[in-house]
Amino acid sequence: MKLANSADNYGLISKLFHWIMAALIIATYLLGKNLENNFEYYYEILMIHNTLGLSILVLAIFRLSWKFINIRPKPILKNKILIYVAKTNYFLFYSIFFLQPISGYILTNLQGDTVMFLNFELINLLDHNSDLRYLFKSFHEYSSNVLLVLFFIHSGAALMHHFAFKDRTLKRMTFDSD
Ligand code: HEM
Ligand code: HEM
Repeated sequence: MKLANSADNYGLISKLFHWIMAALIIATYLLGKNLENNFEYYYEILMIHNTLGLSILVLAIFRLSWKFINIRPKPILKNKILIYVAKTNYFLFYSIFFLQPISGYILTNLQGDTVMFLNFELINLLDHNSDLRYLFKSFHEYSSNVLLVLFFIHSGAALMHHFAFKDRTLKRMTFDSD
C-alpha cells in the first residue's frame, strides 16, 4: 500500500489519520457526555477527555498539512450537489477539529480547572468566570451536537455508497483497497 494518495486512492498515511482520529473523536465525545453525570470520577474523566481532545488538535494540524501537500483522490460520484455536500461536511469536520479543543481548553480554565495532558498541568489562559463559562459551555455543547449530526450524515453516506451504490468509496478508505 502506498504512503501517499493517488488520483484514485487514499494512501496509508491519510487512512491512518482518518481512522485514528475517528476513534479518538468518538471516545472524546462519549467521555464529554459522561462528565456531567459522573461527579465521583469527574477529574479522572476530565483529564482523559482533555488529553484525547488535545491529541485531536495536534493530529489535525499534521493531517491538514498532509492534505495540502498531497493529491486529493477524485470523487467517485459525479453529481455536483452530492460533491458539494461532501466537501461542506469535510470543511465542517476540519473546523470542529480545531474549534472543539480550543473552546474546551478555555472552558476548562473558565470553570476554574487546569487543563491536564496526561499528568502534566498546562498553562492557564484565563481565570475563573461564571458568565463566560456559560457562553463557552453552550458553544462547546452546541458544536459537539453539530459533530454528531455530521458523523451520522458522513457514516450514513459512506455505507450507502458501499451497500446501495456498490462503488469503491468505502473500500478506498479501508486497508484492503490495493
Ligand atoms: C474534538 C474534541 C472534543 C470533543 C468532541 C468534545 C466533546 C464534549 C462533549 C460532547 C461534552 C459534553 C457537552 C454537554 O452535552 O454538556 C464536553 C464537555 C466538556 N469538554 Fe469537551 N470535547 C473535546 C475537546 C475538549 C478539550 C480539548 C477540552 C479541554 C482541554 C474539553 C473540555 C471540556 C469541558 C471542561 C467540558 C464540560 C464538562 C462539564 O459539563 O462539567 N473538551 N466535551
Ligand atoms: C468522527 C468520525 C469521523 C470523522 C471525523 C471523519 C472525517 C472524514 C474526513 C475529514 C474525510 C475527508 C478525507 C480527509 O480529509 O481525510 C473523510 C473521508 C471518508 N470517511 Fe470519514 N470520518 C469519520 C468516520 C467515518 C466512518 C465511521 C466511516 C465509515 C462508515 C467513514 C468513511 C469515510 C470514507 C469512505 C471517506 C472517503 C470519502 C471519499 O472518497 O470521498 N468515516 N472522513
